[in-house]
Amino acid sequence: MTATPLTSTTSFQALATHAAEAENWEMRQLFAADPQRFERMSIEAAGLFLDYSKNRLDGRTFELLAAVARERGVEARRDAMFAGEKINNTENRAVLHTALRAPRDAKLSVDGQDVPADVHAVLARVKTFTDAVRSGDWLGHTGKPITDIVNIGIGGSDLGPKMVCLALRQYSHPSLTMHFVSNVDGHDMDAALERLNPETTLFIIASKTFTTAETMMNANTARMWFLAHAQEEALAKHFVAVSTNVEAIKKFGIDPANMFPFWDWVGGRYSVWSAIGLPVALAVGFGYFSDFLAGAHAMDQHFRTAPIEQNMPMLLALVGFWNRQFLGCSSVTIAPYHQDLTRFPAYLQQLDMESNGKRVTRDGAPVDTPTCPAIWGEPGTNGQHAYFQLLHQGTDLTPIDFIAALRPAHELQNHHTALLANCFAQSEAFMKGKTIDEVRADLQQDGLSHDEIERLAPHKTFPGNRPSNTILMEYLTPATLGALIALYEHKTFVQGVIWDLNSFDQWGVELGKVLAKQVEAELKGEPRPQAHDSSTNGLIARAKAAV
Ligand code: F6P
Repeated sequence: MTATPLTSTTSFQALATHAAEAENWEMRQLFAADPQRFERMSIEAAGLFLDYSKNRLDGRTFELLAAVARERGVEARRDAMFAGEKINNTENRAVLHTALRAPRDAKLSVDGQDVPADVHAVLARVKTFTDAVRSGDWLGHTGKPITDIVNIGIGGSDLGPKMVCLALRQYSHPSLTMHFVSNVDGHDMDAALERLNPETTLFIIASKTFTTAETMMNANTARMWFLAHAQEEALAKHFVAVSTNVEAIKKFGIDPANMFPFWDWVGGRYSVWSAIGLPVALAVGFGYFSDFLAGAHAMDQHFRTAPIEQNMPMLLALVGFWNRQFLGCSSVTIAPYHQDLTRFPAYLQQLDMESNGKRVTRDGAPVDTPTCPAIWGEPGTNGQHAYFQLLHQGTDLTPIDFIAALRPAHELQNHHTALLANCFAQSEAFMKGKTIDEVRADLQQDGLSHDEIERLAPHKTFPGNRPSNTILMEYLTPATLGALIALYEHKTFVQGVIWDLNSFDQWGVELGKVLAKQVEAELKGEPRPQAHDSSTNGLIARAKAAV
């Protein structure tokens, strides 16, 4: 049965009518009209606090948005996901990243597999292995402890572990250095190898499929580099793998005893909770890795049980849907006011854009509304001095998610006060703006002439009324980071259900992969000009001439 197009649903039509009435709403007025707005439009869950009051909507908007979520079956799809139903309908797979952070006594079976038993069996192996490496009991082939760990993977097999290792820097083992090689660009591998000693280096080959071209090329290069310094038998002490593909790992020459498995029901961009998180467990230890899983599980429990109107991921999703659909926002900025979250925007790019960057529904029909906005960002305050100009005065409306910890993990309190001041001031500035009359009054006070005031005033005016969310936590800890990631995972999920997308496949990456293989063959051998357009032929010819 084909789902009703979103714009044909009763709840959407009611929301659209309301949106037309709300078109000229000013947040300044919404705040002035309701002194309780902040209390009404903020929520706490799983160690996180979300303030969504600085958006162009009111209580009625939320009732209508919640009705859309209900009519689209968000709750039923959520329950189906947690229950292990095969909601990834183009790959006929369950979607169970939530099971990776569920306790051992959870009950869940998929195709006869006791999911919690398998998950916890792998976690036990992760613990044994990471304890051995961290304590120095795991020795390299010449008897020295491991000092450097290189994760070779790309996409979900890189972004998650790398982002989390950076974010939990404060919790990291003092004498283990983590490296991440992802790009097929040899500069990436070259830069890493330059700093490594094969006697004390451990490589993790991380790939769900163990077929990804970039990872395979990097893994082979690492292997050759290692074998230039050691015998084949030494590989077992220096190469481990994380994958769902045992056969490919054996073929590569990694001992299956050194393989940490996961399952096809874990999507790459949802896999940091699985053995793909091995670099995290190595860096921070299994105890903190468990806290990270527990933080995500706390958010799962909240998402699973709280009514839509009091459900943090649902609210974040609904605000985002409103901004995308009715305010025409085609991109969203992620602004972590925490330097250790420097890779968080990049992580969310894959999570959100690979999940919901789709143009057909689960049934293959064209969508009838815009879907996922582009996601981008940098840590504050750096972004303020680069692109915030456009966010304040540009012609597009770009909502911002501010993310901050109330307490720092350092003793430079004056830095932290300045950081938070900037974060809160930016959200205020985006909301309030500065009217032309306010600008004129300021300039008059500064003693400028009438002509000068009129010349400068348009440039110094801020339209304001620009939406933002603010997410706060007490400290950035393994648990709050876990909850934060899970919050965005579920936000992405809810939006995907509203748009009726399959958020768990990624066919859009395939065409480029196939063509790259063909072009690579031509770069190495005979060109096939009839296979391409003149631009592609010209580029191939230039590259061949440069060899
Ligand atoms: O090509 C996209 C993708 O499949 C991502 O979804 C995935 O995270 C990445 O490639 C890496 O895949 P793998 O872990 O199988 O190497």
